[in-house]
Amino acid sequence: PGSTHSAYKADLRDVIASEGRHHLLSVEQFTRESVGEFFRVADIMQPIARRQKVCRVLEGAVLANLFFEASTRTRVSFGAAFCRLGGSVCDTTGFSFSSMAKGESIYDTSRVIAGYADAIVVRHPEKGSVAEFAAASNIPVINGGDGPGEHPSQALLDLYTIETEFSRVGKLVDGAHIALVGDLKYGRTVHSLIKLLALYRGMKFTLISPTALEMPAHIVDQVSRNGHVVVQTQSMHDGLRGADVVYATRIQKERFVDESMEGYSPDFQINASLVDAVCGKDTIIMHPLPRDSREGANDLATDLNHDPRLAIFRQTDNGIPIRMAIFAVLMGVDTLIQRNMRDV
Ligand code: CP
Repeated sequence: PGSTHSAYKADLRDVIASEGRHHLLSVEQFTRESVGEFFRVADIMQPIARRQKVCRVLEGAVLANLFFEASTRTRVSFGAAFCRLGGSVCDTTGFSFSSMAKGESIYDTSRVIAGYADAIVVRHPEKGSVAEFAAASNIPVINGGDGPGEHPSQALLDLYTIETEFSRVGKLVDGAHIALVGDLKYGRTVHSLIKLLALYRGMKFTLISPTALEMPAHIVDQVSRNGHVVVQTQSMHDGLRGADVVYATRIQKERFVDESMEGYSPDFQINASLVDAVCGKDTIIMHPLPRDSREGANDLATDLNHDPRLAIFRQTDNGIPIRMAIFAVLMGVDTLIQRNMRDV
């Protein structure tokens, strides 16, 4: 009920396949139509995600959750999503607790794990590394973040959140003004999100960042070539004015090569006085989290915590149905969900 998404099709796994294989490595595997179909599967998952219904289509299946970089949301929500569908999860976190610390290659690691599990989620600090896992695996591999590369499940849950929030106030994604703020160079969530939003029509993207942390030129070019308006600025007041979505990001200091924090002033912080001054009553404030709550951090102030425009926790909640839908589609059980759903 209340779904804004398109009619369901049964062959979604093949539609989003990467080179004929059932992995999720990049949002570039999606079309506008397949995103809509995928969100329809996520809608079906909602009562199971909230434990109003039970469905155990993955009973007996094992997820290998391989996280070689820090994570709270992605690791736990992928694990919880798999469990919600009846499966079990084996975790390994950090290089020091993996035989990669003894020099084992990605190829060998992936081949071995594929013999133990039915799906693999990988987070790894190097761009392209998750594709290497996928190339060695005969079970679905899902990119949980490959360095500064992509974070496709985050972008899917972000777009799902935008659609859901917009539907409450009668807005469409087509023609929306999206402001992306902060570390647009190393922030993989914004790399995936802007590509996914570029599947829509007539978008305006305002990219607000220090010069040293601008969105990579090849992504700006790709989006501009699709006919969207892209504005790059360092002015928060000019950039945020008229935005339907303000998407803040954390400065990824851990990925800095020759950049410094110089030039990244507190002026880039999203906070209540700025939002009240330049944003509308229906503007949505988003952030992939974690936000940096340490002294001197700039990304998103806590003084918006009780502002209904702050969507960050509705965003994190959407991680469960979206990641359930990813497993269901890639593992070919999406068509079995509705008929196997029962009351708690
Ligand atoms: N948004 C996100 O990827 O959060 P984690 O780093 O906690 O997984």
